[in-house]
Amino acid sequence: MKILIIGMGYVGTTTGVVFAKQGHEVTGLDIDESKITSLRKGKLYFHEPGLQEMLLDQMKNGRLQFTSDPNSAIENHDLLFITVGTPSLNNGKADLTYVKSAAEMIGRYKNNEKVVIVKSTVPIGTTDKVEQWIHQSANDPSAIHAAMNPEFLREGSALYDALHPSRIVIGSQSSAAVSELKKLYSPFSCPLLVTSTKAAEMIKYASNAFLATKISFINEVAKLCDQVGVQVTDVAKGMGMDERIGPAFLQAGLGYGGSCFPKDVKEFTETAQSLGVPLTILEDVEKVNQLQSHYFINRVKEVYPSLKGKKVTVLGLSFKPHTDDIRESVAYPVMDQLLKEEASIIAHDPVVNLSTEWLKRGVTQCWDPYVAVKNSDLIIITTNWPHYEKMNWARVQDLVAHPYLFDGRNMLDAEEMKNLKFKYQGIGYS
Ligand code: UDX
Repeated sequence: MKILIIGMGYVGTTTGVVFAKQGHEVTGLDIDESKITSLRKGKLYFHEPGLQEMLLDQMKNGRLQFTSDPNSAIENHDLLFITVGTPSLNNGKADLTYVKSAAEMIGRYKNNEKVVIVKSTVPIGTTDKVEQWIHQSANDPSAIHAAMNPEFLREGSALYDALHPSRIVIGSQSSAAVSELKKLYSPFSCPLLVTSTKAAEMIKYASNAFLATKISFINEVAKLCDQVGVQVTDVAKGMGMDERIGPAFLQAGLGYGGSCFPKDVKEFTETAQSLGVPLTILEDVEKVNQLQSHYFINRVKEVYPSLKGKKVTVLGLSFKPHTDDIRESVAYPVMDQLLKEEASIIAHDPVVNLSTEWLKRGVTQCWDPYVAVKNSDLIIITTNWPHYEKMNWARVQDLVAHPYLFDGRNMLDAEEMKNLKFKYQGIGYS
């Protein structure tokens, strides 16, 4: 099949590479020339494990190309995916500017019938609007077959998730669109659900909101664990053995970040609120998440009531491991609070470059974690990069000034760290 993907972020690029791998002829379109210039050179401009190699392979075999020219791209393709971003507006609602301009662009250059699939995470009712926006800006009166086909790709394992989906959801009122998508996804053996466009839009929000709820739930339980002296990791393990609950997304810590959960929870609650059916549980999910870094710093202050002049090593800047994405990364509110307490911060991350804003605020970036911990009064782990699990902690113990280790991701073995004479503290006892 000949496929056009509009929007070359991590979702669009990963989706395009995987479709090309399955033998389709794929074109990636973006209005951002710099992204297209980089991709044309075969260079992924963001960090996503395994994707760079597969991108090059697909470009070499001629099944994957990139363009910034919407005119010929839209004219020459009949199966179009919209994968542009839908960031949060200040009021919590999703910003549909990019989706609307992609739809209008399709309208402007449309020359015949098109199947248009929305993959971006969009509020309920948006796919219907996309169809209207296309028609309103089109001179060509031929039909649009619209569908909503949500993505469930996790950053850092987007390629794996695209190759091994847990389910495929197709929301459409158009039998032509459903039939094209069924053909496209026929190589996948996972369950395939066909619903209305609105249900598909809602499945994406409800799924992310539920996963965020699991995280905030276990984070509240962790606080109770701290009070009563119970390991939250044991509680999560025991809960997760119930197959109705499952073990995933029960890792207590500094809370969720990234480009999806925070914005999707906000959009879902805002929509529900505006329709007069508030999602009260979700409102609290967000509150719990926002308070988590404060709770953590208060625990730190039980050890150091004043952090003034203390040398703090922050390990991890990305919102999760295996990505260079820092959107809504909890490392930043943690560093903000530490700076307000007049601590001196050395930050390490295996891939993220600290922005000049943070450098100007006095944070030092260090690429070697062993140099970063030298003479440290306190180490804080903010991202569960495997690098930190593999560190030689006995060596670290020799390098630090004081052996305080606050593990905001509960990623290290508490007993092991205590045997190494660290004063180790995770979230939810230890
Ligand atoms: C998420 C969804 O998982 C994915 O299906 C959707 O398409 C996009 O949003 P992503 O944001 O990439 O993916 O990361 P995910 O692995 O879900 O983690 C989100 C955040 O939750 C991270 O900050 C992570 O550290 C945190 N988290 C996750 C926890 O704090 N505890 C957990 O148990 C799991």
